[in-house]
Amino acid sequence: MNNHILKCITCKKEFDPKPGLYYCEDCGQIMGTLEVIYDYETIKEKSNIKDMKFDKKASMYQFNFLLPTESKCKFDEYVGGTPLYKFDFLGIKDVLLKYDGSNPSSSYKDRASSIAINRALDEGNDTVFCASTGNAASSLAMLNAHTKMKTYIFVPAAIPDGKRAQLEISGAEVMAVEGTYDEVYDLSLELGLKKGWYCRSAAINPYLLEGKKTGAFEIIIQNDFNIPDYVLIGVGDGTVISSLYKGFWEFKEIGLTDKIPRIIGVQAEGIPAIKKVFDKGKPYTPITIKGETIADSISVGKPRDVIKACTYIEACNGYFITLTDEEILDAIIELGKETGLFAEPAGVVPYGGLKKLIYEEKITESDTVCLVITGNGLKDVSAVEGLISTESLSIKDLEKRFE
Ligand SMILES: Cc1ncc(COP(=O)(O)O)c(C=O)c1O
Ligand SMILES: [Zn+2]
Repeated sequence: MNNHILKCITCKKEFDPKPGLYYCEDCGQIMGTLEVIYDYETIKEKSNIKDMKFDKKASMYQFNFLLPTESKCKFDEYVGGTPLYKFDFLGIKDVLLKYDGSNPSSSYKDRASSIAINRALDEGNDTVFCASTGNAASSLAMLNAHTKMKTYIFVPAAIPDGKRAQLEISGAEVMAVEGTYDEVYDLSLELGLKKGWYCRSAAINPYLLEGKKTGAFEIIIQNDFNIPDYVLIGVGDGTVISSLYKGFWEFKEIGLTDKIPRIIGVQAEGIPAIKKVFDKGKPYTPITIKGETIADSISVGKPRDVIKACTYIEACNGYFITLTDEEILDAIIELGKETGLFAEPAGVVPYGGLKKLIYEEKITESDTVCLVITGNGLKDVSAVEGLISTESLSIKDLEKRFE
């Protein structure tokens, strides 16, 4: 689909899309990530935008006027359209919970994988590959299983069993490498690009952010165009948080809204690479750090979308905070008790982040807040081992208990 151009986030050079073009070579893989830019004036003129009708439960392809490909695959009509629940907790009324654990493969990543598969088909590819902390991989493996394209997956060997099982069940070629995500990413990229396979690694392929931004569109329409003051989300490579900003920005750009929320990125204290870059200030300079966290999906020491993430979060007056592993585990249990929802560690960090910001009086009861819960807890049950009871009762004990 030729409804867009690509623009380097650093030198602002513009490119016409072509197969194999993933980043600006002048600026390099991390400084030269590309933005997908549509002709917003034409979009405004063509469609009578104010009269456009949206469906609160429809898939993300209802936003095809701002997408770089069209739906062609089986699962597409079920990707996105995830619930926006409202709960009262932590002293705040009507906290919005965007729950993306209900996507087909149970994470936010389906929004990106669906776009990747459709773009790969548009370009006539026979193989798609990705490096992943786990969710992008299980998502690609599942959504691509029924197409004729082959799936190569590169993940750290230590990914949780649930995510590994998803990969194996869907018949992908799985390379579970003994190394960190950052190492696996570099190795897979070199190999995959040399082979000419289609790359579904979100931080380098600019189109994937386009799928992810539909989460922001849905928050807007599902909340009847009331934009929350704050949106909180977990951050690893920085693509998901960047996509939220772009989604809110685009709806404003085409005149559907007049506000962009303050977006707050939540990282793990053990490996807060983007927060470090952001806090140091401009010019944003990528770094590589080593560290660990129980939140495997955001265990990223060499973030690839760091420039977009810092630039966009500065633009919306947002910032980054961190949580310890202990705070993350507490958040899983508390969110479960408050709402019944089970989130994986990286998915629950917005809840822990909100708790912290309320404690620090940075968010107060008069603020409106949306937490984006990006992954289902069933993907990583081992994370809560030790926190949940596994005791059993004999039949006699049971009878006694209710005597
Ligand atoms: C459940 C979950 N939440 C948050 C993220 C963070 O996304 P990003 O790496 O784009 O910052 C990921 C990435 O894998 C994820 O799987
Ligand atoms: Zn450039």
